[in-house]
Amino acid sequence: MKGVILAGGSGSRLFPLTVSVNKHLLPIGQKPMVLHCVDKMVESGVTDILIVTNPEYVGHFSMFLKSGKNFGCNLTYKTQDHADGVAGALLVAEDFVGDDNCLVILGDNMFEFDLKKEVSEFNGDCHLFFKSVVDGHRYGVGHFDGTTLTELEEEPNDVTCAYACVGIYMFGHTVFNIIKGLSMSDRGEYEIADVINEYISIKNISYSFISGFWTDAGTLESYRLANENMYE
Ligand code: TTP
Repeated sequence: MKGVILAGGSGSRLFPLTVSVNKHLLPIGQKPMVLHCVDKMVESGVTDILIVTNPEYVGHFSMFLKSGKNFGCNLTYKTQDHADGVAGALLVAEDFVGDDNCLVILGDNMFEFDLKKEVSEFNGDCHLFFKSVVDGHRYGVGHFDGTTLTELEEEPNDVTCAYACVGIYMFGHTVFNIIKGLSMSDRGEYEIADVINEYISIKNISYSFISGFWTDAGTLESYRLANENMYE
């Protein structure tokens, strides 16, 4: 299993914090955001990790994380030349992942859940992680028929209590062919939700519910929440 941390994007909802600093280098508790993700990967046993970020920031990440040796892993860095979405960022990892599977974490997802069991049991298709939330309209939410996941709906109107699909995924290397078949969405991005709905349609999908604290740290409010809960 290879690890891929997506740390590109524009971080516009955190302006002005992210005007001159990449979002994933902002502090959460006692360390930069990205190190929380690296540590979760290493904890799960995934130590060969790619960091994908914007061209202007790649040196900032390597200045901090270097080879990864101090953090128990082996790091590679690649650039996403344009912020063309989460699936666009993942496509940058194609050569790095090769014929392996990959654990993908969106670099602003801060969580306590230990991924070790799911990583060791992954079957090579697509595995998602869900968390019960009260502000479902902010996320991609899962629709279930019994235990079968039937659809992932992006930011549904008027939905409160729901199961949000968090920014942690496992994919087999088939994911790259799926991404290459996608069209750009109306907002000019290659959407991870489209990738997931493709796996749902071919019924190659499994999922878990995560326990413990989780938030994305992409808004000022959720960034504050992450700092309050992820002190270490
Ligand atoms: P988002 O929070 O959806 O986007 P963003 O980081 O650009 O922030 P904003 O919407 O406030 O402008 O991204 C979720 C994660 O995915 C984030 O950790 C960065 C990563 N990402 C990329 O690596 N490349 C991209 O092109 C995008 C859009 C996101």
